[in-house]
Amino acid sequence: MCGIVGYCGEKDAAGILVEGLKRLEYRGYDSSGISVGYNDKLSIIKKKGKISNLQAAVPSDMPGTFGIGHTRWATHGEVNDLNAHPHSDNSGKITIVHNGIIENYISIRKKLKDEGVKFITETDSEVIAQLVSKFYEGDLEKAVKEALKHLKGTYGIVAIHADEPNRLIGARNGSPLVLGIGEGEMFLASDVTAMISYTKQVVYMEDGDVVVVDKDGFRTTDIRDNERDKEISTVGWDVGEMEKEGYPTFMEKEIFEQPQAVLRGMKGRLDPDQGTAKLGGLNMTNRELRMVNRVIILAAGTSSYSAMTCAYLLEKIARIPASAELSSEIRYKNPIVDPGTLYFVVSQSGETADSLYAMRELQRKGATVLGICNVVGSTIPRESDGGVYIHSGPEIAVASTKAFTSQLTAMYLFSLIMARMRDMSISKGKAFVDALSMVPENINKVLEQNEYIKTIADKYADCHSFFFLGRGLTYPIALEGALKLKEISYIHAEGYTAGELKHGPIALINEVTPSVFLVPDDSLREKIISNMKEVKARKGPIIAVAVEGDTDVADIADEVIYVPKAHELMYPFSMVVALQVFAYHTAVALDRNVDQPRNLAKSVTVE
Ligand code: M6R
Repeated sequence: MCGIVGYCGEKDAAGILVEGLKRLEYRGYDSSGISVGYNDKLSIIKKKGKISNLQAAVPSDMPGTFGIGHTRWATHGEVNDLNAHPHSDNSGKITIVHNGIIENYISIRKKLKDEGVKFITETDSEVIAQLVSKFYEGDLEKAVKEALKHLKGTYGIVAIHADEPNRLIGARNGSPLVLGIGEGEMFLASDVTAMISYTKQVVYMEDGDVVVVDKDGFRTTDIRDNERDKEISTVGWDVGEMEKEGYPTFMEKEIFEQPQAVLRGMKGRLDPDQGTAKLGGLNMTNRELRMVNRVIILAAGTSSYSAMTCAYLLEKIARIPASAELSSEIRYKNPIVDPGTLYFVVSQSGETADSLYAMRELQRKGATVLGICNVVGSTIPRESDGGVYIHSGPEIAVASTKAFTSQLTAMYLFSLIMARMRDMSISKGKAFVDALSMVPENINKVLEQNEYIKTIADKYADCHSFFFLGRGLTYPIALEGALKLKEISYIHAEGYTAGELKHGPIALINEVTPSVFLVPDDSLREKIISNMKEVKARKGPIIAVAVEGDTDVADIADEVIYVPKAHELMYPFSMVVALQVFAYHTAVALDRNVDQPRNLAKSVTVE
């Protein structure tokens, strides 16, 4: 969603701000803008549409060594140049950028209007600039703090003043803000990607922080001027990981990174001798883990399907009742928190508002919530009671791929730990470790079929609707396959458990509606084959993802993508990769913007 970048230093700010905004493009946006200070004046340039529109409007020699920039994902007011950020006060001396939602903006706006303030945008954010202006008496920090006292809602803000050159004031409440410390220059941004080409030294702001930044230092307090100590962290990845490295899209690059990402997620965590695993960050003793009698995993979107896969797995191998819940639902259910229940929240970004607020609600009721996240230093891992980083590296494409298989990896390890403490023998544990170690190679074997899967995708790209069908552990994989296809190709796709087909959806099967069946060689194989026959009897085209050597499937299906034979619990990995590749090539065949699909944002930071 919206992205923020702020700069103060000695270089020309405009170029750095635009470059930072380009790095934030992946978050999803519909307009962008910058404001740069020079000679007691602030210039603002804002453009609807792609950052290239903004870039074209910014003069290459635009002077000024401090400024702020923003990518907007519209919530209040239509997508146009005017509603784009930065927003200015009536004097033109103050500009602000804002991520989040100001819930009481209507009443503030009315009050300020009555006092003679003129509003020129339809946004909630403009009230911040006007409020800061109202309280400004020669000290921007003071004015921002006073303004914040009147705001209800969520914000990550950066403000500048024309008469206070090379100074940024940032504040955070519910929307991420990170400070970057360079050599004689400083950055404020909604995530580190905006400044990673300049510095790896960062400070993650927390809710309630107000930070005053100039080119040589920073000071953090709360809005009542109480000092807040901050720790400097070093970002553990390089700018190279933010590049496409020869791939036409980030999504394809990330699909192909999965063998390495999964391997990284397991590195140092498997214990082959004991047939178990170790996860350092859980902050729970073995005794406490043994006392867990239920696991509930919360997440949204793709992460909810990895959560669901692992809930199936936990019940199966650890014999613990486990379920996955959508974050957006559980929060408002007034959840019953039982002391024996352990909660997980799974989130690639670690910033998804639905998941974050659900976690806080559970914690308020006394729950222990562990995080499974990718983005280091993001809010969920910082506020959770412990957890695991999946280490899949930056995921830039809006459609999540490598984070999914890395989330599975982390939760497979956790399930193994729980299983070995309860029901699973050491020999079965060792077999599980061996099987998990084979996953990267098995994914590679699917990726080797890239061209072949592309031919299937090209053949079916004109279809208007698809079904994705699995059972047991591959049911969530079918849901994820359908989500992937609809997100990036805009083709209608529905995921179902194959057993449900005859209870309604089969009414939609016809010659032009393909069904993608997932057919692992487990105890449900025969059942799925029966479901395939039901579809075939109604002339529905079938694309099957089956296990090497399964010729029965080839006799029924129109197309078969084979995955290597594996331990029956490992098929979610290889099968989901086959579906990602299929969705990817379908979207490419339809000439879609694969990395930035319409209406979607990488990190959904509003409810
Ligand atoms: O960052 P998160 O994992 O919390 O994000 C959750 C969903 O918004 C995300 O998975 C979304 O569904 C993706 N676009 C999936 O490709």
